[in-house]
Amino acid sequence: MTKIYIPLDMAAVAMGADRLAAAVAKEAAARGQQVEIVRNGSRGMLWLEPLIEVETPAGRVGYGPAKVKDVASLFDAGFLTGGAHALSIGVVEEHPWMKRQNRFTFVRCGVIDPLSVADYEAHDGFKGLKRAFEIGSAAIVDEVAKSGLRGRGGAGFPTGIKWKTVADCAPGQKYVVVNADEGDSGTFADRMIMEGDPLSLIEGMTICGYAIGASKGYVYLRSEYPVVAKVFQAAIEKARDAGGLGQNIKGSGFDFDVELRIGAGAYVCGEETSLLESLEGKRGIVRAKPPLPAHVGLFGKPTVVNNVLSMATVPMILEKGAKHYADLGVGRSRGTMPLQIAGNVKFGGLFETDFGIPLGTIVNDIAGGTRTGRPVKAVQVGGPLGAYVPVSLFDLPFDYEAFAAKDSLIGHGGLVVFDDTIDMLWMARFGMEFCAIESCGKCTPCRIGSTRGVETIDKIRNGQDVEKNIELLKDLCHTMKFGSLCALGGFAPYPVESALRHFPEDFRKSALEAAE
Ligand SMILES: Cc1cc2nc3c(=O)[nH]c(=O)nc-3n(C[C@H](O)[C@H](O)[C@H](O)COP(=O)(O)O)c2cc1C
Ligand code: SF4
Repeated sequence: MTKIYIPLDMAAVAMGADRLAAAVAKEAAARGQQVEIVRNGSRGMLWLEPLIEVETPAGRVGYGPAKVKDVASLFDAGFLTGGAHALSIGVVEEHPWMKRQNRFTFVRCGVIDPLSVADYEAHDGFKGLKRAFEIGSAAIVDEVAKSGLRGRGGAGFPTGIKWKTVADCAPGQKYVVVNADEGDSGTFADRMIMEGDPLSLIEGMTICGYAIGASKGYVYLRSEYPVVAKVFQAAIEKARDAGGLGQNIKGSGFDFDVELRIGAGAYVCGEETSLLESLEGKRGIVRAKPPLPAHVGLFGKPTVVNNVLSMATVPMILEKGAKHYADLGVGRSRGTMPLQIAGNVKFGGLFETDFGIPLGTIVNDIAGGTRTGRPVKAVQVGGPLGAYVPVSLFDLPFDYEAFAAKDSLIGHGGLVVFDDTIDMLWMARFGMEFCAIESCGKCTPCRIGSTRGVETIDKIRNGQDVEKNIELLKDLCHTMKFGSLCALGGFAPYPVESALRHFPEDFRKSALEAAE
C-alpha cells in the first residue's frame, strides 16, 4: 500500500486539495492501485499547494501545484514510486525552502497525520508532557523562563514570567486561554499549526495547566477558520480517547480538559482582555489594565493567555531542554520564529528560522523578490499595526529589539511585501481606516482619532493645506500612541508614521500635481 499525502490545510483546500484527493482515490481504484491517502498539514510552500507527497524508499517525493487534470498523467508517470513528472519537486525535505529552515515549532507540521495520536507519538509527541510530569510545576516554569521564549502574539512578553505570575497566585480555579484569533493581515502560522499539528497545542496547554495549577483550558478561535475548527475539535476528542486529556492524564493524577470557542469576527477580540470578555459571552471591549489577566482573568480568575505559537512551542522546549532553544537566536530574541511571508512575492508561505536573519534576506532571497518582478518598495512587518519598512533598512535583523529601535515591530511574524506601484499615502489611510472600523470604542484617542486621521489624510490627498495637515497628522499620531488604552489605538500610528517618515514624497504628490 503506497502512502500519499494531500494537505487538509485551508490554503491547499482553497486551491483544490479536496477535489484532488477525491480524484487521486478514484484514479487509483480505477487502476487497481492500493493507496492510502493521508490528509496532512501544509509544509508551508504555499505556491506549491496543493502539494501531493508520495512515500518512497528515497523519502517523500513531492508534486505540486497539482490539479485534478494532472492526476492521470501523474499515475502514467509512475508517481507512486517517485517517477519523473513536470510537477515533481523531488524529495520534499531536500527542497531548498525546507533545507534552509530550522523547524522547531513546525517540525511535525506537514509531516504527520494531524489526527493520529500514534503518528504524533511516533514523532516525539507527548515527550514534553512526560518530562513535565517528571520535573514538576516549579521546574517547568523555570525551564520555560530559561528558554527565553517570548509571546508570539505580538507583544513579545516573556512566557515564563507570565506562567510564574499565575502559578504564584493562591490555589483555586485558574484558566489556560489560547489566543487563536490570528487577525493580523498576512499571518497564518496559528492556523497552520492547528491544522497540521493540533496535538502540539493541546500538549502545550496541558503542560501549562499542570505548571500553573489549572484544570481547564479554552481556545478562542477566529470564525474565519472553519477547517481549524473541524480539525482541532477532532484532535481534542482523539487526545481524550488516548488519555492525553481528561482525568488522570497519562496516569499522572492530573486532570485537564480543553474547550474550543469560536469568535464572531472582531480584530480587537485578539487583544487579550477583549478576548476574555468575548469568552465570557459579552461584547468584546478592552478592559483597563491593571489588573492583569494573570491576576484577574477569565471569570475573574488568574489566567494565562498565550498565543497559539507560544503554547505549541512549549512541548518541544520541555523535550529538548531550555538550553537547546535559548542557544538559538540573537540578543533577547531567543529561539526560532515561524515567518509568514505574503503579499507580492514569488515564494510565499511559512518559513521557520532562528531570530536574527536580515529582513532583506527574507524578502529577496527566501521569498524571491516580487511576483510582479518590479522593485520592492516596502514591507509591512507585524500585521496591520506594523510599520512599513523600506528597502534601505533591509539589513535589519529579525529581532524584537532591533525592530523596536527603528519604530517597527515584528508582531506575530507576518510580512506583507509591496512593489513600487504602491501608494504609501493610501496605505497610511488604510491603517487609520482599519483602526476606525475595528476600534472597540472604549477610549477617545482611538475611537475619534482614527476617524479624524482618515479625514486628515483625505485632505492631504486632495492637496488641501498639505504641510499643515501633515503636521496635524503627526500630532494626532502622537496623541493616539500615548493616549490610547490598548495597542490597537496605540500602534495604529506605526504604519502611518513609517509611511510619512520613509516615503514623504507620496504625501506631497497631490500638491505637486496641483502645482504642475
Ligand atoms: C488589537 C490587538 C489584537 C491582537 N490580536 C492578537 C491575536 O490575534 N493573537 C494573539 O495571539 N495576540 C493578539 N494580540 C496580543 C494579545 O493581547 C496578547 O498579548 C497575547 O495573546 C498574549 O499571548 P503571548 O504572550 O503568547 O503573545 C492582540 C493585541 C491587540 C492590541
Ligand atoms: S485603543 Fe481602541 S480598541 Fe483599544 S481600548 Fe481604546 S478604543 Fe478600544
